[in-house]
Amino acid sequence: MSPNKALWEKGDFTEIAALMRQSGEALVGSLGIATPLRVLDLGCGDGTTAVPLARLGAEVVGIDIARNLVEAGNKRAAQAGLDRLTFQEGDACDLQGVDDHSFDLTLSVFGAMFAPKPFEVAKEMVRVTKPGGRIVMGNWIPNDPTSFVSQLLKISSSFMPPPPEGFVSPMTWGVEAHIIERFGQAGVARENISMVKDSFLFIAPDNSPAEVVESFRRFYGPTMNAFEAAQKVGKAEELHHRLLELANAQNQSADGSTSIPATFLRVTVRL
Ligand SMILES: C[S@@+](CC[C@H](N)C(=O)[O-])C[C@H]1O[C@@H](n2cnc3c(N)ncnc32)[C@H](O)[C@@H]1O
Repeated sequence: MSPNKALWEKGDFTEIAALMRQSGEALVGSLGIATPLRVLDLGCGDGTTAVPLARLGAEVVGIDIARNLVEAGNKRAAQAGLDRLTFQEGDACDLQGVDDHSFDLTLSVFGAMFAPKPFEVAKEMVRVTKPGGRIVMGNWIPNDPTSFVSQLLKISSSFMPPPPEGFVSPMTWGVEAHIIERFGQAGVARENISMVKDSFLFIAPDNSPAEVVESFRRFYGPTMNAFEAAQKVGKAEELHHRLLELANAQNQSADGSTSIPATFLRVTVRL
């Protein structure tokens, strides 16, 4: 199994996605969805954006590399009675079986950014989107102190051994020059790419920041791997302390619960 797939099948991302539902719905609401519309949600997880898209009447295909998340997504779709929403396994680097120009909108919220071959990903997103359609990505921003997940990943990776040679950091999807270069190689002109900072909220009304950090430790693949590596060198407590410090510093709730805003780069590509 590829390390990319293994990482996201590790743990249970649905536990983290539960903190993201409100912003997922708000983001979808801001897309100006007018049906009929065929949407690809790439790196969809268990449907944080795919479910609200389908509720608005779009026909939605969610593609994700993690089998457990595809299963969880299909379960949510069935429970919600959304028969125009399907989840399937696939790799954003190579969307086998997906026809050219088959979607009006390709959406990827903190999803495709984690695929290991960014130039292939840009090429595939352009290939499967109809001319006249659009691609919208949400990407965490490196070295932005207000981009909570990018900070969490930076701290986590500082406890990990160095990545293999040739590894491209997912965070490069939060850098304008890389985005322009990647879509440029896929044939998109600069003037058809727009980028704006936006914000996502991680909300846990019944949980403290310490409990949220515990969820990342138990369920979020990248943080789980960091704890495993830290444990081996006796640094698990230090990692825990650093993550707790981050979550407490960014939490905006004053009643003991958690509400952490996280800045991201919203990329819109018009084809
Ligand atoms: C941070 S989660 C975001 C999930 C979802 N978009 C959301 O907002 O809840 C990243 C997702 O990208 C998926 N992913 C990572 N690499 C992928 C790849 N190469 N192809 C497709 N999906 C991928 C993971 O399995 C995971 O579901």
